[in-house]
Amino acid sequence: MAKRVIGIIMNGVTGRMGASQHLARSIVPIREQGGIDIGGGEKLYPEPFLIGRSHSKLEALAAEFGISRFSTSLDEALADPEYRIYFDAQTTAAREGSVRRAILAGKNIYCEKPVAASLEGALALVRLAREHNIKTGVVQDKLFLPGIRKLKSLVDNGFFGRILSVRGEFGYWVFEGDWQRAQRPSWNYKKELDGGIILDMFSHWRYLFDHTIARVRTVGCIGATQIPERVDEQGRPYQATADDMAFATFELEGGIIAQMNASWTTRVYRDDLLTLQVDGTLGSAVAGLRHCKTQHRVNTPRPVWNPDIESMHDYRRDWQDVPDNSTWDNAFRVEWEMFLRHVATDSPFPYDLADGARGVQLAEFALQSWHERRWVDVPDLKLD
Ligand SMILES: NC(=O)c1ccc[n+]([C@@H]2O[C@H](COP(=O)([O-])OP(=O)(O)OC[C@H]3O[C@@H](n4cnc5c(N)ncnc54)[C@H](O)[C@@H]3O)[C@@H](O)[C@H]2O)c1
Repeated sequence: MAKRVIGIIMNGVTGRMGASQHLARSIVPIREQGGIDIGGGEKLYPEPFLIGRSHSKLEALAAEFGISRFSTSLDEALADPEYRIYFDAQTTAAREGSVRRAILAGKNIYCEKPVAASLEGALALVRLAREHNIKTGVVQDKLFLPGIRKLKSLVDNGFFGRILSVRGEFGYWVFEGDWQRAQRPSWNYKKELDGGIILDMFSHWRYLFDHTIARVRTVGCIGATQIPERVDEQGRPYQATADDMAFATFELEGGIIAQMNASWTTRVYRDDLLTLQVDGTLGSAVAGLRHCKTQHRVNTPRPVWNPDIESMHDYRRDWQDVPDNSTWDNAFRVEWEMFLRHVATDSPFPYDLADGARGVQLAEFALQSWHERRWVDVPDLKLD
């Protein structure tokens, strides 16, 4: 098969997401399998150009994965016409400026969420990308998780009847950094560095609702900074200025009521770090990262309220697994392959910068709702 090389500038690959999900679990395995079959006897073969702030870390990554180009100069990479795609997994605060430079250099854009730290910034990128007539994409990895794909197939097959409500639980305990190292970077807990769970997670809620259940129409949110002091990567105490938990309710199109609880200050007593329960007139389902369980109306038990006796009923046994009728690749890799095909062959890719801006819109409106202590409507974005 003929090999068609596609050059990708990858910025922020020394970070948690950039190194693990995007490089090691997506681009490297695609290279190892010889590329992506795009039909016509051709394979699309990604050639990364690694960009970051630390020469030694980049050098180590390049050696580990057999990558020939790396640099601490973004300008050097942007000037090279062999690299047609710019990918960004830097901190949220660093993204907008770098993406803007890449658009001006004529590169196609693929980036992590949130696409910018403000709706105004996100919309400016959307408009600039349109002016320069380039292709764009944003990471919406949760859509490609097996559990969520099973949930989506239930929705598409009419399993639920009329969907009534959605209830999501996300979170886990993030250690403070003193007696155990924190699992997340310290900038996540600093408002001044565009940290905070609302800006981080509500992009996910937006695309999950919009693409799996129904369009978001209204948001009401309350957040908090529950652990005010944490310890950073260098062992120094710092003030946490950003929200580390947020409970939000939403109205979705069709009158569906949704609730999402997000917290980095909770201990897990559920089947997964993210679970979504959908209740409908004909059935209910609970999706996690890989699995999805259902209970049809005909399998619904009749609960009896009696706290005076020990309950003998195992409620979890009333649910059935949606089977794994196919194999599932890493969610980030699946989306990467879709985006690379889109750039090379013009195949459809709906998760563009405008869709990313909708995620930022929801985060911004949730923050507004919290600070003004009121519900906020979420209108369609004006993109022109
Ligand atoms: N899709 C998802 O599920 C998911 C999950 C976690 C994080 N993210 C997003 O990915 C992005 C990166 O998150 P992460 O957890 O990998 O962060 P990280 O701190 O581990 O990595 C950040 C990267 O940005 C670089 N960087 C550039 N300028 C920087 C600066 N001024 N200060 C610090 N680092 C700087 C770092 O060198 C590093 O490579 C964030 O925007 C975050 O919202 C997405």
